[in-house]
This record gives sequence, C-alpha cells and structure tokens, in this order.
Amino acid sequence: MRIDIALWVSLSLVSAFSSVRAQDMAKGEKLYQTCIQCHGDKGMGLVEKNAPRIAGQFDWYIASSLAAFKSGERKNPDMLPYIKGLSQQDFADLAAYISKL
Ligand code: HEC
Repeated sequence: MRIDIALWVSLSLVSAFSSVRAQDMAKGEKLYQTCIQCHGDKGMGLVEKNAPRIAGQFDWYIASSLAAFKSGERKNPDMLPYIKGLSQQDFADLAAYISKL
C-alpha cells in the first residue's frame, strides 16, 4: 500500500515536470546563435546594426518583446525573419539564456 502511494507520487511528479517544461537555457543558447550577428555573442548589442543591448534584461520582457515582434505589434522587419518560425517555448528558452548573459 505504502509502495503504491510512493509510486503514484513519483509518477505524478515526473509527468508534471515533463508536461510543463521549464525554461531550457541550453536550448536558448543554441537558438541564440542566429541573434549574435546583430546583438553580439554576449548580448551587448551592435551599434552598426542598431541592435540594442539585451544581456541581463528581465526574461519576461525579452519573451514578451519577441512575441510582440512576431505578432507585428512591435515592428522590426530586420529581426522578423529570424523569429517568425519560433514558438512561445523557444522565446521562453531564449529569454532564460539572454537574461543570464
Ligand atoms: C538582423 C539583425 C537582428 C537579428 C538577427 C536579431 N535582432 Fe533583435 N533586434 C534588432 C534590432 C534592430 C532591434 C531594435 C528594434 C526596435 O527598434 O525596437 C532588436 C530588438 C530586440 C529586442 C528588444 C529589445 C528591447 O529593449 O526592447 C529583443 C528582446 C531582441 N531583439 C532579441 C533578439 C533575439 C532573441 C534574436 C535571435 C532569435 C534577435 N533579436 C535577432 C536586430 C536583430
């Protein structure tokens, strides 16, 4: 009986973690490789690309900016091609990585 409960608890923990995936910094780092040409490898921004510093920005702000660019709410024709194929989860992963730069 006790074993049944322990098994049930551990199974529900496993499924909770796998269904709601947390932000994945390693995935974010991989996705960030296309952003480096404009924002720099440490997210410091590049004057010649008019690209602002994004390193250390709050993760929620990065994720919501990316969503706003994708939806067209914020206009950014230079960046759009690089983010239009990305998902909400990709934005969360990118935000987790960039906020720690
Ligand atoms: C072709 C150059 C280019 C590329 C590639 C690019 N960006 Fe940008 N990014 C810009 C420019 C220019 C802006 C400023 C736009 C504006 O005026 O709001 C910007 C703005 C941003 C902002 C908003 C900053 C703020 O303070 O509001 C974020 C976040 C961002 N970029 C993240 C990314 C991420 C993540 C990637 C890679 C998936 C990326 N960018 C790829 C040029 C680029």
